[in-house]
Amino acid sequence: MKLIIANWKSNKSREEVEHWLDTFETHSPRLGSEVEAVIAPPMPSLMFVSNRLLAKDKHPRTALAVQDLSPFPAGAYTGAISAVNVQGFKVKYAIVGHSERRRYFHETHQDVANKVTQALENGITPIVCVDDEYIAEQAAAIERDSLSRCVVAYEELSAIGTGNNEPIEHVQEVFQRIKKVFGNVPVIYGGSVDVDNIAEYLDFADGALVGTASLDAEKFASLIKQGVSA
Ligand code: PGA
Repeated sequence: MKLIIANWKSNKSREEVEHWLDTFETHSPRLGSEVEAVIAPPMPSLMFVSNRLLAKDKHPRTALAVQDLSPFPAGAYTGAISAVNVQGFKVKYAIVGHSERRRYFHETHQDVANKVTQALENGITPIVCVDDEYIAEQAAAIERDSLSRCVVAYEELSAIGTGNNEPIEHVQEVFQRIKKVFGNVPVIYGGSVDVDNIAEYLDFADGALVGTASLDAEKFASLIKQGVSA
């Protein structure tokens, strides 16, 4: 099964989210077991997206993700969103350790490892983002038993939001290194994935993490269609 994830980052107002969902519902194919579409909305829209897509059961193969998660359990951590806070919204995945979190919010490998623990303790599958510089260090910080329960997203800094998607040969080589340390986990690719290149990655990857191209619902629907035929 291919996992195709829309990571909207800090984009979209409540109104824009509603418009995206209207358009996506019109254009998205009916999904069987080949693809799981995953939406990672900004946190204030989580409940809305959850109600709209999941409670109505219009999209049985569309899952919800959070873009980040607190490294701490529920408690006195002002401003942090814990795994307990998102209980009841049918959150299936949590993106953790995205390079933008590491870069702008100074997250460490240990912070990311703690987020993995929080996610797993609360029934959420962590999607651990790595670039090829620190795969082993990141894996070493995560509890051994937890490694095999992660999805890993390989995203090279220079490929994110630049239009310079990473060459296939390099991605394949990095995937092998990821599997050596994490085990035989699903590994997905992210970094300037778009309609004209997703098929090459889905040939061997377990999915794609999509930023810019996911902001347009029609475009995201056509990425999903390519996932169905991959
Ligand atoms: P991009 O972002 O598709 O805009 O390169 C990918 C990501 O950061 O997850």
